[in-house]
Amino acid sequence: MPDTSIKKPVPFVDLSVQHAALRQEIDRAINDVFAQSSFVLGKAVSEFEEDFASYCGAKYCVALNSGTAALHLALLAMGVGPGDEVITPANSFIATAEAISFCGAVPRLVDADIETANIDAGKIEAAISEKTRVILPVHLYGQPARMDKIKSIAADRGLPVLEDACQAHGARFKGKRAGVLGEAACFSFYPGKNLGAAGDGGAFVTDNVDLAETVRLLRNHGSSQKYHHLLIGHNFRLDSIQAAILKVKLPHLDKWNEARRQIADFYNRRLQQLPGIKPIRVVDEAESVFHLYVIRVDDRSVVESVFKELQISYGIHYPIPIHLQPAYRELGLGEGSFPNSEALAKSIISLPMYPELSHADQERVVVALSKASDLMRER
Ligand SMILES: Cc1ncc(COP(=O)(O)O)c(C=O)c1O
Repeated sequence: MPDTSIKKPVPFVDLSVQHAALRQEIDRAINDVFAQSSFVLGKAVSEFEEDFASYCGAKYCVALNSGTAALHLALLAMGVGPGDEVITPANSFIATAEAISFCGAVPRLVDADIETANIDAGKIEAAISEKTRVILPVHLYGQPARMDKIKSIAADRGLPVLEDACQAHGARFKGKRAGVLGEAACFSFYPGKNLGAAGDGGAFVTDNVDLAETVRLLRNHGSSQKYHHLLIGHNFRLDSIQAAILKVKLPHLDKWNEARRQIADFYNRRLQQLPGIKPIRVVDEAESVFHLYVIRVDDRSVVESVFKELQISYGIHYPIPIHLQPAYRELGLGEGSFPNSEALAKSIISLPMYPELSHADQERVVVALSKASDLMRER
């Protein structure tokens, strides 16, 4: 008799399901690229740029080889350079701050709101100085930052807002999509993202023709005509194969985001009564696409040991805030500088979340958390 008590692990993300469903279409799209032998900045890239700009409701999209490259070029195009400061959250993936540093500027970090884990818009004003050039909020976990407040602060100071929408493809704030909530936006198509390539990829999206043209030049050695260079640029181009794959996947994005929302609704309903467990709250008037579903817990070691015992995979996004990373030692910001970001780093845990996560697996996650909640109460 097979032992039915042995269960397969619950994956944190399983990209193979999505790929299997689209395999034929993707294979055809890749074959087309080979047939054209146009592997760099080919037709697939310009077609995807058009599709993604239209999806976001923006005029222009420039496809790039990563979200980090998109942020880097966006800041360069906005004129950020040595001696400047850019405002960004302490609680984010390090790429946001790195892009600022690549321009020779300094990330001016702002603490998170403890409930939403997003940048605390109420603390931005105090971080603005005469060196500030850009405000760079992150739509963390797939939920837009408090964009109305942020834009109004920016407008008062004449500063542009650049969205880090690397986790927020399709998310909305007051009905408008990420991509058109600021002056410009940057996306990542890292494979695990809501819209993911089969490798690295990214995009810059804007309604501003000058910014779009500058980023377009910068991604390709400052050149629009072969061997004529208007600017000192980079090689940050998206491959045609990645563009072709993204073009196949884009029409499915809304359906996948809706599936993520359903899973989030289930988690919300089932976790609300569990002592010691608190889901991260979505920013008011924001519609999250739940790139990640994150909870705060009273004792993470208990939850981690129950998850390990019951074979439930999980993540921590992120275990160390940017100001405490050795890479940013030079900022001179020690423990206690951003208490909410630090408290979140110690207490958050990301639950399995991908559109095809089965109902049985969702149930196993909730049962495990219920057990962890009981154990935390007994301590
Ligand atoms: C918030 C945020 N910003 C920027 C990036 C960088 O994107 P990429 O990995 O495509 O360079 C990521 C990717 O994980 C991210 O989550």
